[in-house]
Amino acid sequence: MAVPKKVREEVGRLRREIDYHNYRYYVLDNPEIPDAEFDRLMRRLETLEARYPELVTPDSPTQRVGAGPVEAFGEVEHRVPMLSLANAFSDEEAREFDRRVREGLGVDRVTYTAEPKLDGLAITLIYREGRLERGATRGDGYRGEDVTSNVRTIPSIPLRLLGEGWPPLLEVRGEVYMPKEGFRRLNEEQRARGEKSFANPRNAAAGSLRQLDPRVTARRPLAMYCYGIGEVEGWDLPPTHYETLQALKGWGLRVSAEIRRVEGIEGCLAYHREILERRDDLPYEIDGVVYKVDRYEQQERLGFVARAPRWALAHKFPAEEEMTVVKAIEVQVGRTGALTPVARLEPVFVGGVTVTNVTLHNQDEVERKDVRVGDTVIIRRAGDVIPEIVRVVLSRRPKGARRFVMPEQCPVCGSKVVRLEGEAVARCTGGLYCPAQRREAIRHFASRRAMDIEGLGEKLIAQLDEKGLVRDVSDLYHLKHEQLARLERMGDKSAENLLTQLEKSKQIPLERFLYALGIRHVGEATAKVLARHFGTLERVMVADREALEAVPDVGPVVAESLYTFFREDHNRQVIHKLLEAGVRPREAETGIAEGQPLTGKSFVLTGALESMSRNEAKARLEALGAKVTGSVSRRTDYVVVGADPGSKADKARDLGIPMLDEEAFLELIGEEGH
Ligand code: IVH
Repeated sequence: MAVPKKVREEVGRLRREIDYHNYRYYVLDNPEIPDAEFDRLMRRLETLEARYPELVTPDSPTQRVGAGPVEAFGEVEHRVPMLSLANAFSDEEAREFDRRVREGLGVDRVTYTAEPKLDGLAITLIYREGRLERGATRGDGYRGEDVTSNVRTIPSIPLRLLGEGWPPLLEVRGEVYMPKEGFRRLNEEQRARGEKSFANPRNAAAGSLRQLDPRVTARRPLAMYCYGIGEVEGWDLPPTHYETLQALKGWGLRVSAEIRRVEGIEGCLAYHREILERRDDLPYEIDGVVYKVDRYEQQERLGFVARAPRWALAHKFPAEEEMTVVKAIEVQVGRTGALTPVARLEPVFVGGVTVTNVTLHNQDEVERKDVRVGDTVIIRRAGDVIPEIVRVVLSRRPKGARRFVMPEQCPVCGSKVVRLEGEAVARCTGGLYCPAQRREAIRHFASRRAMDIEGLGEKLIAQLDEKGLVRDVSDLYHLKHEQLARLERMGDKSAENLLTQLEKSKQIPLERFLYALGIRHVGEATAKVLARHFGTLERVMVADREALEAVPDVGPVVAESLYTFFREDHNRQVIHKLLEAGVRPREAETGIAEGQPLTGKSFVLTGALESMSRNEAKARLEALGAKVTGSVSRRTDYVVVGADPGSKADKARDLGIPMLDEEAFLELIGEEGH
């Protein structure tokens, strides 16, 4: 069946349009039409090609995945060898390079092109008559592998050159890479499918491009940036490398927007600093920048040494991944009792700093990575990110290396270690006793809503700890005036005040005392229900899990936390010492207090009161049997309105709920005359 002229024309038009939009999307990063429209163009072309197969050509945008799998890659000779670059690891070495270049040329200053050094793999593409004829890997620099079917699947590589003026033979060189985001997604998918993940984007790119089945390559998120040319016929090259790159860009080849012309070595170093600064924000991995003498005529005069040009230099960034050995795995106890395994390393310079230890976070993390003492590991430190162990090099694991297990006893105080359900971290249960948790325990104990010991701040706690005056919270009640007065920024008056505060704190409602103990998961609300339910400290302490779970709002996790806390002898000792020192947690009345003036009344507080804080107001109301809630509803009996009230006052007005100003409130609680 002859192909109607109209169809032939439409197919040609569709291909030109699709190529153009591909270029806008992949090369210019500036699409002109929505994806859906692009898909429609593609589908239309596919439909026509299916109907008239004789119209299908290898450079049609539908033909990116044309070929089936191969047994092995063919070999390709590079007529212009693919060289490597000399490296510099410091500004000093880069200056050396510039000095040699200037001397070689007999000039004072050289114009360079500065480019990101992408971390992927070098690829060469041959375009004959504007059509992609071959794509090959670098191989040994002289012979590489023919990966044409695979490079054809990479969307940013044009199958046909755009525009006009391109030479009949053009060899383009550049880097195929995998963007960070694509790499992350690919690894996620690999893991989800139970397949092995890739170590880094470069390996992923190389592995993807060297697939014998191009359909696999097509599914991998690969991209390419062009950074130079190889063999060229029929083109009067522009005088500079920079202009060549601009020409390539005009023909639809993707060139990095970060490439810049710079003056002299200072320009190069400023570029290096700038790109290093932005390294983490770039969507692809780079391992440095490349400087190239811009003028071809100067490049030619400089020539080559060994396998690298004298006119170019790779100025590397500090490596973000290095290898080292795990000397030990220690367990640190944080101020809240969390146990954190930390790997001690043979010091290694990575990402610009020397790393001697890295956190392994928690038990699950250690198990997942299966890091063992003696293991060789890959350490990664990217930018300001905390260094981490990426993985273990299993082939280097010493014989007999044993799995890490979390200790069952706190390495600091010997108390029992537990891991509560649903939590990633294991914790020391000796909260009141453990030296690692001492400062935090005292700080919490003294805080306003706990024992409310005014003047016992963090700095003072640190001094008491350093001087060995306070080992646990019970020692607070044995502090002597002389001891306190001698401390920094103290004195007679402050010492006196603190002792008064301590004395005052001995008479404390049970719920505040329970809260002050700093038991995990026991906040003020839980402390309150516990106090109400059990009435005495003794009863809370002897309650078993079942009895604890019977308390309203206490679930299995909270019950377990309470139970292990009070079963830990160390904690019991401290509580015992507190009682001995005269602390008297006042018994709470069990059940709902009856017969009090405000029993059964529900209050909401809004705005600031002059005479007392909101917490105090709440406590006063509760002492009179009232319930204080956070939001206004029809069941609210009164809303106490202070200065600058919030929307709660509006709501109360809307619902017609009685509002009390500060005066009325004070009167109600029996505090007239303020
Ligand atoms: S130019 C003769 N420019 O680095 C010059 N290479 O160590 C040859 N690379 O094999 C290369 N970004 O894979 C050049 N902007 C860039 C580059 C770059 C990455 C890679 C390339 C090459 C290796 C040389």
